[in-house]
Amino acid sequence: MKDSPRRYGSVTRALHWLIALLVIAQLASVFLGFIWKNNVFSQLILPWHTTIGVSVLTVMAIRTLWALSQLSRRPAHEGKLQRLAIAGHVAMYALLILMPLSGALMTWGMGYGVHVFGTAWFEGADAPWAAGFGKLHGTFAWLLTFMIVGHVCMAMFHHFRLRDGTLHRMLGRRGDDRDTRSG
Ligand code: HEM
Ligand code: HEM
Repeated sequence: MKDSPRRYGSVTRALHWLIALLVIAQLASVFLGFIWKNNVFSQLILPWHTTIGVSVLTVMAIRTLWALSQLSRRPAHEGKLQRLAIAGHVAMYALLILMPLSGALMTWGMGYGVHVFGTAWFEGADAPWAAGFGKLHGTFAWLLTFMIVGHVCMAMFHHFRLRDGTLHRMLGRRGDDRDTRSG
């Protein structure tokens, strides 16, 4: 379950792929709706935008605590480029929290409230600053999209060009699970 210097453990992997699926569904349903109005995928996903977004926020809170508890066990990232990858991962964590938070503050402050699985978690309020969070929500969405595209390209580069097993440690295949370090 836990991470090891060779690969990410099952909890980290499950959290990574669950968030990836939810976030790609969120972004794709909105952006596809911009260019292809009334497509079936967007019609299916968009009514769940808030529920999926709040789920992302909840799972990200758990993921952050889990990641902090695994920091000393995780695969090492040495060298300048690898440290840049870590900075990218940290920026993605921040965006994955700010993204739903800004969405929730916007809908709450604009009087719609926050409805999750059909239940009002927060009734709406009238806050003049809420529209600002709407603008931020859009900016974060684009930033996150660029980061994800870069991230997937780098994962493919490691896999097909460098062939260094980086993808396998997130897929859980191959590799030795043993943590050879003491402690
Ligand atoms: C991972 C979480 C989320 C992602 C990836 C996401 C993504 C997006 C994107 C791409 C847009 C379109 C932005 C634009 O017009 O340029 C959008 C709009 C919107 N989002 Fe989210 N969202 C998330 C969470 C939430 C949450 C939790 C809420 C509410 C509680 C929310 C409420 C809204 C609303 C109301 C809009 C329409 C805003 C407008 O048209 O001005 N979102 N979201
Ligand atoms: C097909 C899509 C994806 C692939 C192939 C992929 C691949 C990977 C790989 C191989 C790693 C480990 C990198 C390393 O150890 O240096 C990783 C880590 C990570 N990925 Fe992805 N990823 C994908 C989608 C996403 C998406 C959509 C997000 C964000 C929503 C994301 C966020 C992260 C983060 C934050 C990490 C850091 C490790 C962690 O704490 O979980 N990934 N990914």
